[in-house]
Amino acid sequence: MPGPRSHAPIQKPKNTKGTALRLLKYVGRQKALLIGMIVFALVSSAATVSASIFIKPIIDDYLTPMIGKEFTAELALPLIKMILTMGAVFLLGVIASYGQSKCSVYLTQKTLNSIRKDLFDRVSDLPLSFFDSRPNGEIMSRFTNDVESLRMFLSQGLTQFVSSGIMLIGSFVIMLYLSWHLTILVVLMMFVMLFITKVLGKRSAFFFKRQQKELGEVNGYIEEIIEGQKVVKVFNHEEEVAAHFGEINENLRRASTSANTFASMLGPIMNNLSHINYALTAACGGLLAVNGIMSLGDIITFLQYTKNFSQPISNLSQQFNNAVSAIAGAERIFELIDQQPETDNGYVMLVNAEHGENGELKEAAGHTGLWAWKHAHGDGTVTYRKLEGKVEFEHVTFSYDGKKTVLHDISLYAKPGQKIAFVGSTGAGKTTITNLINRFYEIDDGKIRYDGINIQKIKKDDLRRSLGMVLQDTHLFTGTIEDNIRYGNLDATHEDVVNAAKLANAHSFISKLPDGYNTMLTGDGSNLSQGQRQLISIARAAVADPPVLILDEATSSIDTRTEKLIEQGMDKLMAGRTVFVIAHRLSTVRNANAIMVLEHGSIIERGDHDDLLSQKGKYYQLYTGQFELS
Ligand SMILES: Nc1ncnc2c1ncn2[C@@H]1O[C@H](COP(=O)(O)OP(=O)(O)O)[C@@H](O)[C@H]1O
Ligand SMILES: [Mg+2]
Repeated sequence: MPGPRSHAPIQKPKNTKGTALRLLKYVGRQKALLIGMIVFALVSSAATVSASIFIKPIIDDYLTPMIGKEFTAELALPLIKMILTMGAVFLLGVIASYGQSKCSVYLTQKTLNSIRKDLFDRVSDLPLSFFDSRPNGEIMSRFTNDVESLRMFLSQGLTQFVSSGIMLIGSFVIMLYLSWHLTILVVLMMFVMLFITKVLGKRSAFFFKRQQKELGEVNGYIEEIIEGQKVVKVFNHEEEVAAHFGEINENLRRASTSANTFASMLGPIMNNLSHINYALTAACGGLLAVNGIMSLGDIITFLQYTKNFSQPISNLSQQFNNAVSAIAGAERIFELIDQQPETDNGYVMLVNAEHGENGELKEAAGHTGLWAWKHAHGDGTVTYRKLEGKVEFEHVTFSYDGKKTVLHDISLYAKPGQKIAFVGSTGAGKTTITNLINRFYEIDDGKIRYDGINIQKIKKDDLRRSLGMVLQDTHLFTGTIEDNIRYGNLDATHEDVVNAAKLANAHSFISKLPDGYNTMLTGDGSNLSQGQRQLISIARAAVADPPVLILDEATSSIDTRTEKLIEQGMDKLMAGRTVFVIAHRLSTVRNANAIMVLEHGSIIERGDHDDLLSQKGKYYQLYTGQFELS
């Protein structure tokens, strides 16, 4: 049926053959189903093609001799037998086609399932820099639009190609055998039909392209407005929004109407042409019969095959578009699957440790609360170094895109247990520094050492496990509050979770909720206040009990009084830990061992609170309110 998809603008694939082969490999993983599908398709189309063969003997050998004769059982019996055989062949075809569609459904869904899995696995292990360079919607569309175009093709196209191919070849051979004169006529008519399809298809493709564009516009606008509902209401923009939507909605209507007008013309025109084809064939066949070249049975059988012949052609021409857009979709999917995953050449591992008899550090079987870096050397020896939480930056230079340098020559030194604070205006590079400590991004120049080890030698998982982070943008998952806190440490007991919540001062508000720790959070915790969300994400970091803690504006949405309470809790949490804190309020960073003032990616001042005040520089200005932090 000529739906919008079958004439949708086709994105031309770049490497059709390679992509098709790779797609086939995915399909081929379900060997049994694929073979079953092909066998059933063979049987069902062979049955359809061959059942019509019975028409000729029924007419020429049984019916024609009976004309003008008395109807007797002897005459009727063979005829009935013949008809029953024909029925049996048809029935076989029906059963086979049922089996074929069943196999096809399973084959399609299993194939899509494994493609989606590979896609998701790859997306999960891509470096963050990949996501910076593309809009999320663009990545999402591989899972939605592109997988959908694969589904369209795999669920219908694949079987159609198999069965239509068989029908086409089978019918053509039998037609040639019955009458080559008429076959020439049918083939000529076919070319006329294909030509008209092409002309009309071109016209409607133009409008379908427009329709897809307008559709994208409408969908994008709806998404934007739903997300920005509050802002729309704050600025009283409801009317403008409705007016603009009316406009683009009308554009979509116009484009869709034109597109579907041409598409819907195609069906009736084709039908009429095939009727004309049928009539012409019948007329010419009649002439041949009158001249004794063909029998009546031949002609009726041939007419049946004209139908068997044109059916697969129109099926195939419809599937062709599906195939092209499926290949284009598959290409986009494979392009993402082929992205280089985040590499990790680290070999230094984080292990549970204990002290041996002579006080030396050795690996422990279970949790000891003591951690060590396990360093395997080239000569086969293994050394252990206590995890302390010393962090050093040596002349670190970094840029996200390789063009604009975001951090210039940053050097800093955090002793275990120290609290290091970063202050500076928005965009100065504070978050960026923390992104480098846990290797979300790779530095361009300089060195970062963790307990004296170059962090590039540390396995990323282990490095990140040792660092607790409260990110600037809180993100909560769908699940209960308890689940969200436990995300920091999946082995945490309920007591651990409650203790962490107490540390983060989240316990009091959580216990006031009707469902307490079992309160379900949905839509990124939209049923909580911004500050409550931050408290939960602090508790999540606390439950992980990491030696190094990074707090990126973790308390920016929390009132000063609660912040004080958290700080008291945090002081307990921070004891013996290295803490990097980025804070909005300078009161939060006052007691830090060292404060770094950043501007345009450089550290312009450093020292403790009193040092910095006496320097009378930027920090002094910030602190005395002469310069506002934006
Ligand atoms: N993912 C990113 N890709 C490219 N540039 C970025 C990215 N994140 C931040 N930046 C740029 O790096 C600079 C520092 O940003 P950031 O470290 O987030 O600042 P801060 O946390 O101090 O407000 C800004 O100029 C910002 O535009
Ligand atoms: Mg920031």
